[in-house]
Amino acid sequence: MTKIILTGDRPTGRLHVGHYVGSLRRRVELQNSGEYDEIYIMIADAQALTDNADNPEKVRQNIVEVALDYLSVGLDPAKSNLFIQSMVPELTELSFYYMNLVTVSRLQRNPTVKAEIQMRNFETSIPVGFFTYPISQAADITAFKATTVPVGEDQMPMLEQCQEIVHKFNAVYGETLIEPKILLPDNEACMRLPGTDGKAKMSKSLGNCIYLSDDEESVRQKVMNMFTDPDHLRVSDPGKVEGNAVFTYLRAFAKPEHLAEYLPEYQSLDELEAHYKRGGLGDVKVKKLLNSVMQDILSPIRAERKKWENDIPAVYEILKKGSEVAERKAAQTLADVRKAMKIDYFNDKSLIKDRM
Ligand code: TRP
Repeated sequence: MTKIILTGDRPTGRLHVGHYVGSLRRRVELQNSGEYDEIYIMIADAQALTDNADNPEKVRQNIVEVALDYLSVGLDPAKSNLFIQSMVPELTELSFYYMNLVTVSRLQRNPTVKAEIQMRNFETSIPVGFFTYPISQAADITAFKATTVPVGEDQMPMLEQCQEIVHKFNAVYGETLIEPKILLPDNEACMRLPGTDGKAKMSKSLGNCIYLSDDEESVRQKVMNMFTDPDHLRVSDPGKVEGNAVFTYLRAFAKPEHLAEYLPEYQSLDELEAHYKRGGLGDVKVKKLLNSVMQDILSPIRAERKKWENDIPAVYEILKKGSEVAERKAAQTLADVRKAMKIDYFNDKSLIKDRM
């Protein structure tokens, strides 16, 4: 069976380390595994506009930032098609047909939509485009006949909604669309990386993100100011690791090699945690370890970004080529869909015949 990946991000800001452990790192591994026949990585500008209609400039400026983040973490245009959602208009037409297969009450029950409506204070004035974005996301996924969608846990309801649309479409019009599988991070800490302030999620508006493009000194400052255990006042006090962002980050980022290099007196993170819980291990020491780990991971990404930043025309060329490839694929699926729905009138021999 053909194995196809489709995933993407909204270009509303630069990508941060939550994106990295939640999805980007995995994408690069999948890309380099050689197990996938086709890989599509989408910059979801049209989706970003569903709740940024009054600020298209933000979306416009961040397309290239997200592309730079992609290239700097190791997504390789020779292996992965990087493209811009709105440059593939077939996605819009697919969404339009899928809309007939989804009820308003089903969309209202989508937990992600529900939470986002609250977060954006949309309760009384939800834009229709925003409300229906799970349908457009189903179009994104099915257009490429994606079998695998590597995303963060927050996207689970979107995948379920997509699977329902696939079932409904295939039941009504005949087997046409491929049912995708979600691929979640395999490490608990990566599922929902908290902000540096310990709050549930990294978000630009909360100012609690470490960006992939942050310079060395900003990363150091952010790490040294991170939320730990507020009751861990003296080094000798016993500390808590649950809800302690520094330990969550270590779980998400640190490899055994890091510990061996920077704190060889500990055999494992378990040992480090045990010491912290017992008391006698200070926050600064743990934060310094985390800073070294983060710098190790981020410095090659930063260097790669610099290279691409000096050749922005090449970045746009990559997106243009990727969008062309993506459009060809989506056009094929749209043709299949129109045929299944029997609305491909001019190709339909049974329709075009003389009436006696
Ligand atoms: N909703 C995703 C996000 O907020 C972006 C996205 C749009 C996406 N279409 C997609 C992700 C299709 C996976 C598959 O980041």
